Amino acid sequence: MLIDTFGRVATDLRVSLTDRCNLRCTYCMPEEGLQWLAKPDLLTDDEIVRLIHLAVTELGITEVRFTGGEPLLRPGLVGIVERCAALEPRPTLSLTTNGIGLKRAAPALKAAGLDRVNVSLDTLRPDVFKTLTRRDRHRDVIEGLHAARDAGLTPVKVNSVLMPGLNDDEAPELLAWAVEHDYELRFIEQMPLDAQHGWKRDGMITAGDILASLRTRFTLTPEGDEQRGSAPAERWVVDGGPHRVGVIASVTRPFCRACDRTRLTADGQVRTCLFAREETDLRAALRSGAPDREIAELWRTAMWGKKAGSGLDDPSFLQPERPMSAIGG
Ligand code: GTP
Ligand code: 5AD
Ligand code: SF4
Repeated sequence: MLIDTFGRVATDLRVSLTDRCNLRCTYCMPEEGLQWLAKPDLLTDDEIVRLIHLAVTELGITEVRFTGGEPLLRPGLVGIVERCAALEPRPTLSLTTNGIGLKRAAPALKAAGLDRVNVSLDTLRPDVFKTLTRRDRHRDVIEGLHAARDAGLTPVKVNSVLMPGLNDDEAPELLAWAVEHDYELRFIEQMPLDAQHGWKRDGMITAGDILASLRTRFTLTPEGDEQRGSAPAERWVVDGGPHRVGVIASVTRPFCRACDRTRLTADGQVRTCLFAREETDLRAALRSGAPDREIAELWRTAMWGKKAGSGLDDPSFLQPERPMSAIGG
């Protein structure tokens, strides 16, 4: 079991498969991209599967989410999913992706055993998409989303980040569209995890702003805490149901007290939190021939040290050294 000093138990493992991405979202990375991890530094497919196997059989992990960067850029993704779906006990398997390439990949991922996907889509306007992501790929994302739904990777969730002056007027439009196409939309507050360190608290769109904007067009009824569990999204029932909309308010209404996550970076470091400043090197242990028992103990010790929260409200808050694309979304 992965338990911390606050009594929280991590059952949800987020695995970053690559730090690379084929978009350049302005809230994430600069136009020129980043200094990507070198191939030998990445865990191999076998190493990833070994760590997930250990997490599932010895550490109580029941849910595995693959993230990036952009996880569809990992050549071995389908094989990794297939091998994880064969584990006993079988974990729930999900993927968070920007949707590019999903049209082609969705059927194979479903066949390999992937349960569901979350897709990032911040705007319905191709020109705004191009400004926000610096790539002209809006159509690919929409097609990817529909393909995921058609392949049965459901419920398909859509993640949107609203940026001032770019797409902050689009919340009602996005929700109407998500309801029409049967996607569960969640708005995410922009977090200080961008490589450029450009985040400003007074410049961000808050959960309060988003809800006010949605309420100009929809009736929203809170879903209630009993339904929420450890999910980062607070949800509202839209116009009496059945659709829901979520807000992930990591900045203004953090959910750290119920956090059930542990993370593995593409280069084999355990992180206790998106905002953690320390990492525990499992790759070194793996490559020095450590047995599972020893690696499990390293992981347990790391999680025991998990901090109470993100520290975002502390005056001394410092952004983690690695950006979100290297940590895993
Ligand atoms: P499901 O609701 O189970 O589908 O998962 P999810 O919402 O955790 O998955 P997803 O990968 O779509 O994450 C959505 C967003 O939640 C991420 O982009 C982050 O912005 C936020 N998030 C995920 N994990 C954490 C976390 O550990 N801490 C904080 N503050 N935010 C997180
Ligand atoms: N703040 C909030 N969300 C972010 N994402 C990427 N960077 C940030 C940030 N700085 C989102 C992506 C994707 C999810 C994994 O995280 O849009 O939906
Ligand atoms: Fe890529 Fe995701 Fe970062 Fe956008 S937010 S550049 S899709 S890793």
